[in-house]
Amino acid sequence: MNLFSEIEEPEREELRNLRKELEEANYKYYVLNMPTLSDQEFDFKMHRLQALEAQFPDMFDPKSPTQHVGSDLGKKGFEQVKHRYPMLSLANSYSREEIEEWVRKLPSGVEIVCELKYDGLSISLWYDHGVLVKALTRGDGQQGDNVIDNIKTIPSVPWRIERNDIPDFFELRGEVLLPWERFEALNKEREEQEEPLFANPRNAASGTLKLQDPREVARRGLDAYLYYMLGENLPGKTHFERLETAKEWGFHISDAIKVCHNVDEVMAYIAYWDTERKNLPVATDGIVLKVNNLAQQDELGYTAKTPRWAIAYKFPAEKQLTLLKEITYQVGRTGVVTPVANLEPVQLSGTMVQRATLHNEDFIKSLDIRPGDRVWVEKGGEIIPKIVGRADRNDEMSATASLNDEMMYSFPDVCPECGTPLIRVEGEAAWRCPNESGCPPQIKGKIEHFVSRKAMNIDGLGEETIDLFYQKGLLHNIADIYDLKLEDIAAQERLGEKSAQNMLAGIEASKQVPWARVLFALGIHMVGETTAKKIAKKYNTIDALQWATAEQLCAIEDVGPQIAENIVRYFEDIRNLEILDRLRKAGLQMEGEEEIAPASDKLAGLSIVISGTFAQHSRDEYKAMIEANGGKNVGSVSKKTSFILAGENMGPEKRKKAEDLGIPIKTEEEFLELIIDN
Ligand code: IVH
Repeated sequence: MNLFSEIEEPEREELRNLRKELEEANYKYYVLNMPTLSDQEFDFKMHRLQALEAQFPDMFDPKSPTQHVGSDLGKKGFEQVKHRYPMLSLANSYSREEIEEWVRKLPSGVEIVCELKYDGLSISLWYDHGVLVKALTRGDGQQGDNVIDNIKTIPSVPWRIERNDIPDFFELRGEVLLPWERFEALNKEREEQEEPLFANPRNAASGTLKLQDPREVARRGLDAYLYYMLGENLPGKTHFERLETAKEWGFHISDAIKVCHNVDEVMAYIAYWDTERKNLPVATDGIVLKVNNLAQQDELGYTAKTPRWAIAYKFPAEKQLTLLKEITYQVGRTGVVTPVANLEPVQLSGTMVQRATLHNEDFIKSLDIRPGDRVWVEKGGEIIPKIVGRADRNDEMSATASLNDEMMYSFPDVCPECGTPLIRVEGEAAWRCPNESGCPPQIKGKIEHFVSRKAMNIDGLGEETIDLFYQKGLLHNIADIYDLKLEDIAAQERLGEKSAQNMLAGIEASKQVPWARVLFALGIHMVGETTAKKIAKKYNTIDALQWATAEQLCAIEDVGPQIAENIVRYFEDIRNLEILDRLRKAGLQMEGEEEIAPASDKLAGLSIVISGTFAQHSRDEYKAMIEANGGKNVGSVSKKTSFILAGENMGPEKRKKAEDLGIPIKTEEEFLELIIDN
């Protein structure tokens, strides 16, 4: 404890706070591309920090923001760094017997720390004089990638520890995870965008940590749990004490850590957490047992790959045997037909499961699965439960599925939704319904994709509304959206005039969506968001794209023969051409650069809130003007708001908030003056 800290001059504290604030501002500016301070504020604070550092030369710190420029970004890929201590893995065990065998090799009477085994990616955080200087992935165990910019997006990872009682250097190891809730939201979004789904949170965390754009990493919301401290001259004689210390220093350490004295206690811990883990926000796949005493750990040492002082116990994958009542078929928006097992409901990982995927025809045939069989259903890290096997038919428990050949399973040859004969593309396991424009789930799926956030971003037209409008004959394809009338919408139950107006405003605004996103929104099979951007860059107009040959298309990065063929086929279909014609007439952007450059930068860097009603232009027009001049239209007032464009009847709460925060309010006229050249 620093005895001077209590009587320290307030300037020293100010100096420390400024360093922290400017360090954070640099990161937000250079890495996240989201400035939090104006240039003026930044310069002002930087000068103040320089003055304070001159006043207190004893507080010199080479890592101070005054000593280096904000960023080393612009670099491609991650820096490769050799681990100070190799990052080893753990030996696995699956039963009490195996745990007993491990314990027998330990000194008698050892204390064993039980922890949860988090199912993510290991990370090693280096703290030099209290500052987070590296965050390394495991890599090959000898060297890893420095993903510090991505790790800094995790709110629970401290960037700096302000204490006098910490060693000059230490390392904390732990697990980076994507919480269940974030994982599910991310997959939902990816489904909408027709991007491949992550099978489980671990894959999602791994994909996220490798991203080169920390802003996207921040948006996805990773978390980290730390479980191991390494370094020279560290406090404490036991592993448990060290974790307690790390917790005191501000690190995110799990509360589920327990010191056990015998195998019975270990098994009780396992039994408790095998159930309780289902209520945790993150994925776990077992527990880790560690010898508590550090001197004993040292004595036990390591094998080539794993420590002898620790072992993992893996929870059994959750599997249940149940009756397969029926096989039904689900048709996705691209026409893929997936067989679904309808099951006698079973309890699995805390939820009742009654449907599970059977993947495809080959899978069903290879296991010879038929209705009436008892099948194994599993819900592992994956969200969708799956069938993993079948019980022996001679088994007493198994229902007696008839074994004669007439009962042999066969995949339907027509679409279960629209009756069109199915096709199986060579080299693919899936059967597909080719009736793109007449098959209900394909029609609805295409409309859902068209209005989704990364496509045309039309609010108020969700899955249920689309279904309703389809049933009522209001929507049959994406072009119908632009023929919707206020009275048609407002006449539907659940939808009043207000939501009808919002929906129409969203539809109107979608006419400004740039060409690349329109192309993505069309939902051409396998043309995802990124591919659409690349195509739109090469083909500035839809007319040019329409006449491109497969060969020409293949010259575009990311476009292979399959995608090229899908595009050519799309334009060969007269129904698509009719839809495109209607979309063009509705006023959608069918040409343009990848992104429309702002007409001016008069509002660059400004966040502007629009509130009230206006006389000269509509709100949407003002929104477009803000964007065309490089500004950003934001929804709510905060201290980051640059000004409010206020019309008549501005909300009283907004006005009060603006006044409290000292945010300027501009009238329509003042705003127009700002952007109009004189
Ligand atoms: S200790 C030298 N503790 O499991 C021992 N590892 O299968 C270092 N893991 O690579 C690891 N939770 O990524 C430890 N509480 C925990 C853990 C944990 C998850 C991961 C870690 C390790 C892998 C081994």
